[in-house]
Amino acid sequence: IAITPHMYFTNLPPLHSTEYQLPNHSRFVAVGGIYTVIQTKARLTCEEWGENYFLVGPYMESSVRTQVELIEPCNAALRRTIDKMNSSGCKVYFGRWLIEGSPYVILLDVGFTAWSLDRWKSELWENCSIGVPWFDREANDAILFGFLTAWLLGEYAAQCDEPPHIVAHFHEWLAGLGLVLCRQRQLPVATIFTTHATLLGRYLCAGNVDFYNNLAEFNVDKEAGDRQIYHRYCLERAAVRCTHVFTTVSQITAIEAEHLLKRKPDIVTPNGLNVKKFSAMHEFQNLHAQSKARIQEFVRGHFYGHLDFNLDKTVFLFIAGRYEFSNKGADIFLEALARLNYLLRVNHSDVTIIAFFIMPARTNNFNVETLKGQAVRKQLWDTAQTVKEHFGKKLYESLLVGQLPDVSKMLDKEDFTMMKRAIFATQRQCLPPVCSHNMLEDSSDPILNCIRRIGLFNTAQDRVKVIFHPEFLSSTSPLLPMDYEEFVRGCHLGVFPSYYEPWGYTPGKTTHTMYMCFHCVMYIFLNSSFSGIYILDRRYCGVDESCNQLTSFLFQFCQQSRRQRIIQRNRTERLSDLLDWRYLGRYYVSARHMALAKAFPDTFIYEPQEPTSATGFRYPRPASVPPSPAHSLHSSPHHSEAEDEEEPYDEDLEAEKDRVNIRQPFNMPNRNKNQTVSLPEKN
Ligand code: UDP
Ligand code: G6P
Ligand code: GLC
Repeated sequence: IAITPHMYFTNLPPLHSTEYQLPNHSRFVAVGGIYTVIQTKARLTCEEWGENYFLVGPYMESSVRTQVELIEPCNAALRRTIDKMNSSGCKVYFGRWLIEGSPYVILLDVGFTAWSLDRWKSELWENCSIGVPWFDREANDAILFGFLTAWLLGEYAAQCDEPPHIVAHFHEWLAGLGLVLCRQRQLPVATIFTTHATLLGRYLCAGNVDFYNNLAEFNVDKEAGDRQIYHRYCLERAAVRCTHVFTTVSQITAIEAEHLLKRKPDIVTPNGLNVKKFSAMHEFQNLHAQSKARIQEFVRGHFYGHLDFNLDKTVFLFIAGRYEFSNKGADIFLEALARLNYLLRVNHSDVTIIAFFIMPARTNNFNVETLKGQAVRKQLWDTAQTVKEHFGKKLYESLLVGQLPDVSKMLDKEDFTMMKRAIFATQRQCLPPVCSHNMLEDSSDPILNCIRRIGLFNTAQDRVKVIFHPEFLSSTSPLLPMDYEEFVRGCHLGVFPSYYEPWGYTPGKTTHTMYMCFHCVMYIFLNSSFSGIYILDRRYCGVDESCNQLTSFLFQFCQQSRRQRIIQRNRTERLSDLLDWRYLGRYYVSARHMALAKAFPDTFIYEPQEPTSATGFRYPRPASVPPSPAHSLHSSPHHSEAEDEEEPYDEDLEAEKDRVNIRQPFNMPNRNKNQTVSLPEKN
């Protein structure tokens, strides 16, 4: 890469921390994990930097209307900067982002400066030898955004009465060019670059490569060229090369970055969440029950005419996230579901599994059959309410005259006709749909094609049913009016057998709300069976073996009693502290200090702090905890599901019971051991 970073530093205290973010893989659409990082971290960073913290991003009118309060710039230098840029053909807005912490935002209208694109592209070519093809709209936007951010920072530094010390944190390759230009223009800016996933990593993994075992072998230039992302790759690598401090979000991505971007990250900055604390354990258990009831309502409608399974013995599983079929592990999940279906059938299990796939794809709205399902359910409900009213009225009248009612006369002919008509409406010629929407690319859709291949069509014999909802969830949906978090709470298990997942907010959020099952190496230290997190080996196992592991986990999960699930939910909830920004934010603080010390060595010194018991994370684990929730059986031999409901949620009490009452060993499958379940032949 033809960029030589020049190290020029000035010697003054820090003035501002600025943060740049562009979401990846979509043209400035605010979805996905990076958006969550920036949005959730803002509160903590505001607490640290107060009025000196600014977020810089692209201007999008629709989002600004609902999420930003536009105000006058908060200081004179910034006002002069924005005025100057606006009088030179830019559109720069200033406001407060209406999220927790209300941070200041500076928004740059990228489209408005499109007239400069050719000029800036030639400049990029002349200075850095990076040529960007005209048709790559995302890369073109990244160039505009990069030049605008460097302009903003340079102008701001010039407008300050005293030379400022700025820390600027750039996220992802889309925002990286601004960093490169800051270094090239020798601005007084300490820079941090965070990669949340390498471009090549994502592409290579999506292409069925044994990625993690061959990291050192890839010819990166050729691989990027073959995938027509060479220019993007150059922008990413230039930012990595130029930055004072390079960070990534997990150890596994750090190793990946070292090989693919040729620089070892200086520090890992893991992602956090703003964890909501519940004052009592049963609070989130109640929330689970409420949300589950709403999912059950949806299921009643979706499966109308085929409700031949017991909803009380139905377990809800889900996978969610950006639609990267194999990177996110939808492929292996489906395969495991097919095997689980077989296992449950041959074992004559009375448990039914409903697996939801929440992955946005191109659609033209809900399909008729799915909407009809909810309409039929509503009609049945209304009919039941009307008949109940008639019934209630007659009962009341009978009691008024001091007589017990003649039950055979409580309903008249009209009531029966109404009920018969309603039942008639539940006759159905087709099976309950596997997909809730009309897919635009139905015949080539990977999930649908896989379902066709493995034959999970929601028939009466299937113990595993599938619902593909190719849109993120929303509380305003006419079909399943729940927001994502409520839905997660209502489900029993999230399954994230991803192959490529640098961090994975979706599994993380799931820990905060229930259990999950995913591959991520960084969590390996958790005793999975205790915590409600099952780890799948996807690095040293072949696909088939990983799939068997997953099937085995799922099969065991289906055999748990309600009480065991309740206990496991309690334990999982306790882990959520592990993901709190209050704990994880310190890595960002270190990265900023490191950058300041590198950029302004005469003014700042960076002293790494070893975590002590006071600063480190204490993993909440009761002393008497058993190795597995499967040990947590009831002490009474006459234990029933009804009793489960009445159990108090006292974890330590449970643990103590476990200690004295271990009845059966919990057979966790292990790749070194033989599988504990027999599986159907793969066809
Ligand atoms: N998400 C959402 N609605 C859904 C499903 C997922 O808002 O119905 C969010 C999820 O909470 C997470 C993000 O989408 O914040 C996905 O981020 P993740 O880090 O899991 O993956 P990425 O898309 O960044 O690779
Ligand atoms: C929560 C509720 C209980 C309910 C249980 C269902 O714990 O407080 O009243 O019985 O959820 O759990 P399940 O795993 O069967 O959905
Ligand atoms: C990327 C990764 C995801 C991570 C997110 C936030 O999109 O794919 O795993 O959670 O960035 O860092």
